[in-house]
Amino acid sequence: MKDILALISPGKPFLPDSLNAMQLGHANAMRHLWLTAAVSLFATRGTGIRILEVGSWMGASVLTWGAAIDRFIPGDSEILCVDTWAPYLAADDINIDGAYKIMDRAASTELAYSVFRHNASCVSKKTRVDHLRGSSKQVLSMLRDRAFDIVHIDGSHYYADVLADLVEGKRLVAEGGLLCGDDLEQQISEVDEAFLRANIDRDAVVDPKNRKPYHPGVTLAVSEVLGPVSSYTGFWTMRRQGDAFVSVDLAGASPFLPGHFSDEYKKTVLEWAKTSGFFQKQS
Ligand SMILES: C[S@@+](CC[C@H](N)C(=O)[O-])C[C@H]1O[C@@H](n2cnc3c(N)ncnc32)[C@H](O)[C@@H]1O
Repeated sequence: MKDILALISPGKPFLPDSLNAMQLGHANAMRHLWLTAAVSLFATRGTGIRILEVGSWMGASVLTWGAAIDRFIPGDSEILCVDTWAPYLAADDINIDGAYKIMDRAASTELAYSVFRHNASCVSKKTRVDHLRGSSKQVLSMLRDRAFDIVHIDGSHYYADVLADLVEGKRLVAEGGLLCGDDLEQQISEVDEAFLRANIDRDAVVDPKNRKPYHPGVTLAVSEVLGPVSSYTGFWTMRRQGDAFVSVDLAGASPFLPGHFSDEYKKTVLEWAKTSGFFQKQS
């Protein structure tokens, strides 16, 4: 598989929509802006940074972390990816959506792991990318306290898994570092709590009152471990200050969309950036 990918996409990322490599496609592409914004907050530090990512799938977010490090971080840096690269979705979720079926198949055939390794090899050599293959429950406990400047939680969305990842993630963030994650479309105060609690073992649901989709396991676990968090179109982040975690304002940050996004994706995100008014509001 390694040779086939090198032939199909020599030295360049391979991120086909047909494999859901970019994760929810255009609708979710702006989340990468927040990853770059988070790294830009470390630009003045003058040293390399260490990032831990729980859930790397085919490496789209790893490429974004790498591109952001290239742009903002002067020193050599490291990214450690933790993933099972194995099927993890419950049958009820797999059957609901074509994208989930593709993910499940790509994971069970080792395609996801092969594509991840290909894409990780495309990150610039300034950044060392390592990976540990295994469930986050097993792997995170082996890592030392406060070892990472950014801990990005983007693994399983099921409540018990997210809760465990957050508890460990908190332990692993260095002083001044960021604990962050994806897929927090709504916080607990925004949704019907009884419905939320009845659905913590589903990947995603639609809130019966506000009719907006969200990931109930992420919403409940984040609220229990951190309370209300700073959130940006699904991306959330908090900064370690001693033993506390405080909110993070990304207004002064410098988001950008890296080179592994096609022109079509860039157009969608730039259009969103203009129409959402987010940046104007924040500046
Ligand atoms: C939403 S995808 C990650 C997307 C990726 N960060 C990106 O932006 O391209 C979730 C990933 O979490 C991984 N995963 C699910 N459960 C896991 C667990 N218990 N431990 C480690 N990884 C897990 C899956 O294999 C999958 O690759």
